[in-house]
Amino acid sequence: MIPEDTLKSYIQNLEDNIRTIVEENKNELKNDVLGFLFAKSKRIRPIFIYFCTHILGGRVDDDIQNTALALELIHSATLVHDDVLDESEMRREDVSFYSKFGSKKSIILGDYLLSLALLALSKLNNPKILKIFSQNVLKTLNGEINQFEGRFNIPNEEQCLEKTAAKTASLFVCGAECVCELLGADAAHRNALKNFAYDFGTYFQLKNDIKNFLSGEDDIKNGVYTLPLIYFKQENPECDIINIDRNQIVNYAKKTDDKARKIIKNALLNIESIKGAHQMLAGLIKLLEEK
Ligand code: FPP
Ligand code: MG
Repeated sequence: MIPEDTLKSYIQNLEDNIRTIVEENKNELKNDVLGFLFAKSKRIRPIFIYFCTHILGGRVDDDIQNTALALELIHSATLVHDDVLDESEMRREDVSFYSKFGSKKSIILGDYLLSLALLALSKLNNPKILKIFSQNVLKTLNGEINQFEGRFNIPNEEQCLEKTAAKTASLFVCGAECVCELLGADAAHRNALKNFAYDFGTYFQLKNDIKNFLSGEDDIKNGVYTLPLIYFKQENPECDIINIDRNQIVNYAKKTDDKARKIIKNALLNIESIKGAHQMLAGLIKLLEEK
C-alpha cells in the first residue's frame, strides 16, 4: 500500500503540473478551466495509475506523472462534454459548467482540456503510449456513441455491460496499459492489469448508475437506460419506464449491485498473484465510497 503522505505528495505534484500546463497555455478560459479542474475531484484515475505503478514495483517518475496528467485532463474533457449531452444540471454536487455557461462554452472548454491533454501526452515522446491513449479514447467515444445512437432502445444485459465498459473502463485500461508499457512489464502482468482495469472501471460505472438511479439523477428523460431499468423491464415488459416509481423498484438496484459485486470479485481474481493487489483494490473501493 502507498503510505498516505506519499500518495498526497503524488497528488500535490499532479496538481502543480495541472496549474503549470494551464499557466503555460493560458487563454481567456484559464480561470474557467482551473475552476473545473479544481472542483471537488477524487483524482481516481491518477491514483489508479499510482497504485498500478507501486504494485509493479515501479517509481512514480515524470513519465508516470505526465501519463496521469494526460488521463485526468482527457477524463475532465469527457465530463464537460458529457454534461452537455446529458443536459445535466449538476456535477460533483455542484452546478455543472453546462448549467452555468451553456453548451457553446462547454464545447470549447472541453476542447481546451483535450488540447492540454495532447500536450501533456507529447511530453512523453513515446509512440507506444500515444497509441494506447488513442485506442482507448476511441473506445470511450465509441461507448458514448453507442449510448447516444441507442437512446430509447432497451439493450440486454450483455449489451449494456459492453457499453458501460467501453465508455468508462477504457480510460482505466488506458492507465494500466501505459504503466505496464513504461515499466516494461511482462505479458502476464500486462494482461492481468488490463483485465483488472476493465472490471474495476465497469464496477465504477455500475455503482455510479445505481447512485444516479436511486437519487433520480439518471438519464431516463434522454432515453438512456442503465442496468437497474433493464432488469426492471426484463421482468415487467408492459410497464412504462418514464413513469416509473423508483421506490418500488429498489430491488432492481440491488440486483445491479449484486452484479457489480460479482464483477469486482472477478477483478481481484485477475491480480491476486500480484503482491499488494488486494490492498490496492481495497484502497480504490474506499475512495469510491467516500463522499
Ligand atoms: C459519464 O457517464 C461519461 C463518460 C464515462 C464518457 C463520456 C464521453 C464523451 C462525452 C465522449 C467525449 C470524448 C472526448 C475525448 C472529449 P454518465 O453520464 O453515465 O456519468 P455521470 O453521472 O458522471 O454524468
Ligand atoms: Mg452524465
